[in-house]
Amino acid sequence: MAYEQIDRTRKIWDRYAARYDREMDRVERMLFPGGREWACGQAVGDVLEVAVGTGRDLPYYPAGTRLTGIDLSPGMLAIARERAKSLGVEADLRVGDAQALEFGDASFDTVLCLISLCNIPDHRTAIAEMYWVLRPGGRLILLDHVASDRWWVLLFQRLLEQVTLRTNGDYQTRRPLPLVTAAGFVVSHSQRTKLGWMERVVAVKPGV
Ligand SMILES: C[S@@+](CC[C@H](N)C(=O)[O-])C[C@H]1O[C@@H](n2cnc3c(N)ncnc32)[C@H](O)[C@@H]1O
Repeated sequence: MAYEQIDRTRKIWDRYAARYDREMDRVERMLFPGGREWACGQAVGDVLEVAVGTGRDLPYYPAGTRLTGIDLSPGMLAIARERAKSLGVEADLRVGDAQALEFGDASFDTVLCLISLCNIPDHRTAIAEMYWVLRPGGRLILLDHVASDRWWVLLFQRLLEQVTLRTNGDYQTRRPLPLVTAAGFVVSHSQRTKLGWMERVVAVKPGV
């Protein structure tokens, strides 16, 4: 993966960090209300959140979760650390690249990634990395905006993507689900909502 692409992504989110929460409040209410509760409520054991951002999921993890969160952007992570402190949540929050996770194979029971596979430059590699760091029987939980299965929504998404790729490197027409299967996961749940715009996925790493 080109260093320039990583560097560009990091700079975008460092710049965006201060206004991210305000803008995400609106997006979340419109596109995925209850999504964070749904995703984090299923986390068990040793948990890795990939692209943890400003830590908007932190309030929703069950008590006792052993949480590690990585993100490319120190600016986003600084807000996540403040949030963890004010919530009294213990979490190892550190800079890292989803495309080259620094953890050993089979290190986690649950891996989550919310609203970020749309933004990670090489999302195929990131999903493969998530596979390797999960223990056999461990679960991958995804929530993202994806290419809609309605042609007129997809048309709008293609237009929107022309703008968002330039402003924050965000793809609107990706679909992680086939890549999840190709990486070796067994999908146990998938659900589209909001005119096919949003998708929730739970997938298991086989082996137990
Ligand atoms: C739209 S924000 C989502 C943040 C958070 N997951 C949430 O739900 O609010 C996308 C995040 O992906 C992170 N990101 C993009 N590429 C990444 C990569 N290669 N490795 C780690 N984080 C990455 C950005 O820094 C940013 O914090």
